[in-house]
Amino acid sequence: MKFMTTIPARLNESKDKLVILDQTLLPEEELFLELDHREEIWEAIKMLRVRGAPAIGVAAAYGLYVTARKIETASTEEFVAEFMKLKDYFATSRPTAVNLFWALDRMEARLKQEGDKPVPELKHALLEESEAIFQEDQEMGLAIGEYGLSLLKPNMGLLTHCNAGGLATSGYGTALAPIYAGHAKDYNFKVFADETRPLLQGSRLTAYELHKAGIDVTVICDNMASIVMREGKIDAVLVGCDRIAANGDTANKIGTSGVAILAKEYGIPFYVLGPTSTIDMNTPTGAEIEIELRDDEEISMGFGKRTAPKGVKTYNPAFDVTDAKYIDAIITEKGILRAPYTESIKKAMES
Ligand code: MRU
Repeated sequence: MKFMTTIPARLNESKDKLVILDQTLLPEEELFLELDHREEIWEAIKMLRVRGAPAIGVAAAYGLYVTARKIETASTEEFVAEFMKLKDYFATSRPTAVNLFWALDRMEARLKQEGDKPVPELKHALLEESEAIFQEDQEMGLAIGEYGLSLLKPNMGLLTHCNAGGLATSGYGTALAPIYAGHAKDYNFKVFADETRPLLQGSRLTAYELHKAGIDVTVICDNMASIVMREGKIDAVLVGCDRIAANGDTANKIGTSGVAILAKEYGIPFYVLGPTSTIDMNTPTGAEIEIELRDDEEISMGFGKRTAPKGVKTYNPAFDVTDAKYIDAIITEKGILRAPYTESIKKAMES
């Protein structure tokens, strides 16, 4: 299967730099950045140059590798101590998407597994682990695509929120994966993309990648979701996720929970799609998920234009939590999970 979009986070050919597509410049400009300084990698994650839960995980793993490979010491003990400082630093970049912490923990676990081997071998192990995370992310997108497609029919109208496509993963996506899988089989979906205020991931990124792939996509403002549902244009809602609690409550881009509540009202199935790396068994319910609060200016000076009076207060949570009762299915690379989620999630995580 060919990947539909540009890969948002990968290693360069000489495997010493993290290459990211700067998504803050899309859809106007495709600019790739080659990074190997810890501060610039942290900044790229924080400022959403690379964003979307799985892509953040991949960028963090590669970021940890390209910065750890520059640690100059022959002492294993010293190397591990420096590695831990890098890991803790990257963990402060964004709080909600659990894939960041999952990837960083996985890199640490691999390092610990190598024991007291010489430093060059530890560095090589970190390279291998980061490449495995990338590779698995591509595979999960394909699996989610097929499982998701089994719930859809040709010619359906689909609504999505934010961007959970190739740009948010390693090239295929989660919520958009069934759309790509269906497109390859001439399903002729009509996709509606919520623009997703305040940073417009829906109109800048989802519309960009679907349009580029030749898929029928219509951008709507967030406050138009109700009318398109009422007009019968939507047969299913597909969204990604940043953290799924053990009971199925799901954090995703701000606005998602409102779409889920609307979908329930109109009797439209609401599906969450994401890899099991987005499930956080240490978070019992959505109430315990930390919601990232972002800068006021994203609302009051969006894209450089004053959109609220100077000095006025704003409130800018970047995510919200959709209660599990609004979710008709959670589609993972391990299969389709249904309520009661406490049981189906536990079973999937143990398999
Ligand atoms: O703030 P962002 O752009 O990183 O938020 C992204 C989302 O909310 C996505 O829907 C989610 O990460 C799923 S990506 C496959």
